[in-house]
Amino acid sequence: MTRSACFITLEGLDGAGKSTHIPWIEDRLRRAGVDLLSTREPGGTPLGETLRELLLHQPMDLRTETLLMFAARNEHWRTRILPALERGQWVLCDRYTDASFAYQGGGRALGAAPVRILEDWVQQGRGPDCTLLFDVPLEIARERLTRGREQADRFEREDAAFFERTRQAYHARVAADPSRFRVIDARREIADIRAELGGILDELLHARGYGTAAGEPDPS
Ligand code: TMP
Repeated sequence: MTRSACFITLEGLDGAGKSTHIPWIEDRLRRAGVDLLSTREPGGTPLGETLRELLLHQPMDLRTETLLMFAARNEHWRTRILPALERGQWVLCDRYTDASFAYQGGGRALGAAPVRILEDWVQQGRGPDCTLLFDVPLEIARERLTRGREQADRFEREDAAFFERTRQAYHARVAADPSRFRVIDARREIADIRAELGGILDELLHARGYGTAAGEPDPS
């Protein structure tokens, strides 16, 4: 079976704990023989990282915020993600367009319609193959956030109602496209979450012609 590429995104509220698992996921994929591009949004390119600084710290109008998220995304998508996928690399991206639906569309109450227009324009029908949504109740996300951060950014400073709308918008994304999403109950112990993640990654690897145990190709 010929090996093929896979675009995986990670989503969740600030404080859901996804960053704890990223190095582990990267390691697991690389050990299975995957040539991996691991990246993040907003960011992932020199321009995207500059826009990230503005987005996280500079007050701005909601439409400006949404356009800058997509400006960073367009640069990232066209100059890094798409070329990587076309070369057969896998891409692991910490947040992608679902975050715009959740944070701008839901949290900031812009609604899904403008986000969908920008998504169509930038991505032209392509997107992640699999999205891992790290899901925790609001109180846990808030608690983890205040424990882990020295200085909160513009999003982390938002109130509970913002994050409740954001979480609901994530769940609406899952309901609209259930086969793409895996919802991870991130309240659990790290070892339990990793056991589930391992199973999901093994499935993705197997379906794309990779062996899962010792990094050997699937003989079938
Ligand atoms: P991070 O802390 O997970 O790196 O993400 C930075 C913040 O940016 C996070 O609070 C979510 C927010 N964000 C959006 O509001 N919209 C987006 O499209 C993306 C990618 C991130």
